[in-house]
Amino acid sequence: MYVCICAAVSDTQVRACIRNGARTVEEIGERCQAGTGCGTCLDHLDGMLEQDLAPSNAA
Ligand code: FES
Repeated sequence: MYVCICAAVSDTQVRACIRNGARTVEEIGERCQAGTGCGTCLDHLDGMLEQDLAPSNAA
């Protein structure tokens, strides 16, 4: 599923960026361009960061 339409970036790609060290929406943008266009997806990217970086998800 595409998270960012502008850059055609899927949720799988965003999760890979987070796994590879992206800790902010800006860092996701640097790694896979998601969120660098219209900005509509920024809230969603933020939510994915929170979800994937939550301590309960670390295990
Ligand atoms: S949908 Fe991601 S920047 Fe436009």
